[in-house]
Amino acid sequence: TKAVLAYSGGVDTSVCIPYMKKEWGVEEVITLAADLGQGDELEPIREKALTSGASESLVANLQEEFIRDYAFPAIRANALYENRYPLSTALARPLIAKKLVEVAAEYGADAVAHGCTGKGNDQVRFDVAIAGLNPDITVLAPAREWGMSREETIAYGETFGIPSPVKKSSPYSIDRNLLGRSIEAGPLEDPWNEPIEEDVFLMTEAIANTPNEAEYVEIGFEEGYPVSVNGEALAPVKLIETLNAITGRHGFGRIDMIENRLVGIKSREIYEAPALLTLILAHRDLESLTLTKDVTHYKRGIEETYSQLVYNGLWFSPLKAALDAFIEETQKRVTGTVRVKLFKGNAHIVGRKSTNTLYTDELSTYGSDDKFDHKAAEGFIYVWGLPNRVWSQQLRG
Ligand code: ARG
Ligand code: SIN
Repeated sequence: TKAVLAYSGGVDTSVCIPYMKKEWGVEEVITLAADLGQGDELEPIREKALTSGASESLVANLQEEFIRDYAFPAIRANALYENRYPLSTALARPLIAKKLVEVAAEYGADAVAHGCTGKGNDQVRFDVAIAGLNPDITVLAPAREWGMSREETIAYGETFGIPSPVKKSSPYSIDRNLLGRSIEAGPLEDPWNEPIEEDVFLMTEAIANTPNEAEYVEIGFEEGYPVSVNGEALAPVKLIETLNAITGRHGFGRIDMIENRLVGIKSREIYEAPALLTLILAHRDLESLTLTKDVTHYKRGIEETYSQLVYNGLWFSPLKAALDAFIEETQKRVTGTVRVKLFKGNAHIVGRKSTNTLYTDELSTYGSDDKFDHKAAEGFIYVWGLPNRVWSQQLRG
């Protein structure tokens, strides 16, 4: 067996290398470190894979593809799992899975591997995405099977020359990429415990330290894709970085929620995803100006289903492809600009405009240039209320 392992440089994925070779007889392990803008130094990670026993250590910059092909479609779908979580971690998984499968084909590997535990969503997302892309490949998940505690894992690694973490490791389990940070565990496992800002958050400022003046930011969209900030056209990665900085410094983008995992467990999750959350708010608002009432209302249901699919690992699935086609059709006229006011942890939409606006002054106004036919309302209301009138008459006998 030759396996391609999704590699982060942490103890767990490092231990996966000797474990698969020694315990499972895997002959060769090729590691793939995905750069999704998590801000780690990649060269030490590349070297660490080799000293941990990898035969080949690859690093792939996936930032552009991540934002363009995963984050932006999710923004067009206004995707919020359980109405709150913008899927910042979940969106990265199908992309990593895709790269694992590609590298496996390139290097003639018959297996791919990841370091997820058996309790989370991420294992599902990897396994299901991989099977959707190549049903013949074997998926190895050593950390799901080895049953070692944290201490045992570190001790096991040391016998293979994998250094134990130098600094006292943080009590939190953190996943990070360009879109946001997901923070779990430690004191946060008690849902009553407030996250202590200073050591939990990195992308969003504590309210006490945010500016005392509001800041406005204008976001431009073309066919549902974010394309500019304050009038300046920006490529996808740059746009996310720019908005993360602007909205994060006003303390916007934090979420504290109890979430239902696919595996049935409830977990306490802290997120920060300033740009992504701002973009979803702004995009949804622009849709309210440019989509008809029925499309807008119907799309809400599609969005809910879409969010669940992505959360539950079905990115590469026929239903997801069908929903994408629906969303694509709806976005053709979603072009325009949204103005957001940032202040003390809030992001309020305070203006929107579009050449495709369906908001017509002459219909909406209460002024004298009103073109709405008021007499038409009477007949409409009679017909609209007729079923209720009949029902009520029947009840009264
Ligand atoms: N609960 C979030 C999700 O399911 C975050 C998961 C974080 N993953 C991690 N390996 N720490 O998307
Ligand atoms: C994990 O156990 O891999 C992290 C949590 C999750 O995937 O939901």
